[in-house]
Amino acid sequence: GTQTGGGGETNAADDGVITLGFSQVGAESGWRAANTKSIQDTLTAENGFDLKFSDAQQKQENQIQAIRSYIAQQVDVIAFSPVVETGWDAVLQEAKDAGIPVILTDRAVDSSDETLYESFIGSDFVLEGEMAGQWAAEQYDGEGYQAVELQGTTGAAPAIDRKDGFESAIAGSDIEIIDSQTGNFTRAEGKTVMEGFLNAHDDIDLVFAHNDDMGLGAIEAIEAAGMTPGEDIKIITIDAVKDGMQALADGKINYIVECNPLLGPDLADITKKVLAGEEVEKRIVVKDEAFDQAAAKEALPTREY
Ligand code: AHR
Repeated sequence: GTQTGGGGETNAADDGVITLGFSQVGAESGWRAANTKSIQDTLTAENGFDLKFSDAQQKQENQIQAIRSYIAQQVDVIAFSPVVETGWDAVLQEAKDAGIPVILTDRAVDSSDETLYESFIGSDFVLEGEMAGQWAAEQYDGEGYQAVELQGTTGAAPAIDRKDGFESAIAGSDIEIIDSQTGNFTRAEGKTVMEGFLNAHDDIDLVFAHNDDMGLGAIEAIEAAGMTPGEDIKIITIDAVKDGMQALADGKINYIVECNPLLGPDLADITKKVLAGEEVEKRIVVKDEAFDQAAAKEALPTREY
C-alpha cells in the first residue's frame, strides 16, 4: 500500500492494502488500552490494512518523530491522537506536502489551518465535563461542598475541555473547587496528587477526576487516610472503563460520564473514504452516556471495555 507515484500526489492504495501509520498517545490508562485494542482489532489484514503502530509514551516529541518516520516510509494515511493540542502545524504541513492525508482520533489539535487534516473523530470533551458538573450541581448544590480536581495531562484537549465544561456547569451552584492539579491521566499520579490534597485540606467533600484511572488512584489515597470513598468524599470521573464501572457499582465512585474509546471502526471507514476521494465530515462526534450506581450495575455484565 505504500505510495509509488511522485511526491504531492494522493496516496491511493495501489496494491489494495492500506498502509496506515498510527501514533498513539501512550499506555497511560485503561481507556487508552481499550482504544489501542479497538484500533488494532479493526485495522487488520483481513480488513485491508497494514497497520504500523507506535506508542509515544505521552511525549509530543516522540509523536512528531513517529509521524516524520511514517512520512519517510510513504504510508498511505497517517492517524494519530495528539498528546497535547498545540505545536502540530509544521509536521502536519510536512505530511500535506508529501501528499499523505492525516486523520485525527480522540484528541484535537488547535491549528487554525483545517486543511492540515481530513477529519477529527472523537468525543466532545467539553460536553463530558458539563455532564459531570451538571450532575454534581443537581446532587450536591446547597451543601457547600469543597471540591478538588485531578486534571488530565497538561495541555491535552481532554484536560482543557473537561475542566472548562465542569467549571461552567457548577458555576451557578455553591460547589467550590479549592484545589486543582494534574495527575497525568494515570492511577499512580492520581493517588499521589490526592495524598497531597488530603494533607493540605481537612474538608474535601468531592473529587472530580478527568479520568477513571486517576479517580481509582484517589480511592486508594482516601482509603489509606481512613475514609470511605463514595461516602465521606464523593467521586465523579470520566471514561466508564471496566475498573471505573466496577468501583461505581461498588459505591466507591458516585457518577461516571462515558468517553467511548472504540474509535477503530470509524477510523477504518473514514480512511477508506478519504483514499477513495470521497468527501468526509471534518468532525465526527462520538456519543457518550453517563452512569450512576444503578446504571453501572446494569451495564457491567455486557460492557465491552
Ligand atoms: O483522550 C482521552 C483521555 O485520555 C481519556 O479520558 C483518558 O483516560 C486517556 O488517558
